[in-house]
Amino acid sequence: GTGLDNLIKAKGKKYVGFCADPGTLSNSQNANILRTESGQLTPENSMKWESISPNSQGSYNWGNADQLVAFAETNGKILRGHTFVWHQQIPNWVKNINNKATLTSAIQTHIAAVMGRYKGKIYAWDVANEVFEDNGSRRDSVFSRVFGDWTFLDVAFNAARAADPNAKLCLNDYNLDYSSSKLTNFVDLVKTLKARGVPVDCVGSQSHLVVGNGAIPSFKTTLDSLATTNTEVQITELDIRTSASPSSSQISQQVTDYRNVVSACMKTSACAGITVWGVSDKDSWVPSTFSGQGYALIWDNNFNKKACYQGFVDGI
Ligand code: XIL
Repeated sequence: GTGLDNLIKAKGKKYVGFCADPGTLSNSQNANILRTESGQLTPENSMKWESISPNSQGSYNWGNADQLVAFAETNGKILRGHTFVWHQQIPNWVKNINNKATLTSAIQTHIAAVMGRYKGKIYAWDVANEVFEDNGSRRDSVFSRVFGDWTFLDVAFNAARAADPNAKLCLNDYNLDYSSSKLTNFVDLVKTLKARGVPVDCVGSQSHLVVGNGAIPSFKTTLDSLATTNTEVQITELDIRTSASPSSSQISQQVTDYRNVVSACMKTSACAGITVWGVSDKDSWVPSTFSGQGYALIWDNNFNKKACYQGFVDGI
């Protein structure tokens, strides 16, 4: 086939994927693109703690996540699960926990329930997400406050291994795209966790990028740093944003940037696959998150391939 996933598999990588959820899947143009271009899906929101268990421990909303998993199964796509321990999109009943025993049990119960339900169906899980601040320190969250150290990660990764021993367990973060204390500390943390027996199998680099970012031509350098963890490296949420109404030079720079990111993964043996954070610019999280920015994905608002789609192909 000619889709991106087929092209990358022909070169020895595991997948090209996209985020999706029942809302975007209900658009047939979107679903058709995913059927032909994608080998992997990540639930954009439906498996987040706030979506699955908003009101209280033990009460679950499985509907959207089940639908996404069913679409993946019907169409032969692997899944990345996303995400458990994160400071955002967690319910108030979790945010309000103020002692270690209760929070430990909440993490264990949640992971056992969600991973148990989808056991054997998820290739890799973002067990923890965005645990670093941009300056490289441990991010403030209910988890870091209540535990006072990194051992909330021990709890989460050990619970995840027990729940689905065949799923790859990832630590995921953003702004790992250039050399910084955040990248250094992220790599050191994974090494430290592994050294004390915490089961970390993969590292996710979200890769929410800005067009023309000076680090993109040397993206392989950062992937190489991530690979020193001796885990699988995954590009988990790729998008490359421009201004909302891009100039022609931004449009051509975006082609180059997509090519360079993809080609960096191709040249890095530890890099297993690439997930793009959405199909169409119409559904991208960028315009509502970064004021005045947009145009970050590889299909336009009308589901036409953009110039940067070819940049992606050329990178493979
Ligand atoms: C974003 C989704 O795309 C939005 O729909 C939602 O409103 C907020 O979250 N890092 C992550 C993703 O790990 O879960 C985020 O997804 C984007 C940033």
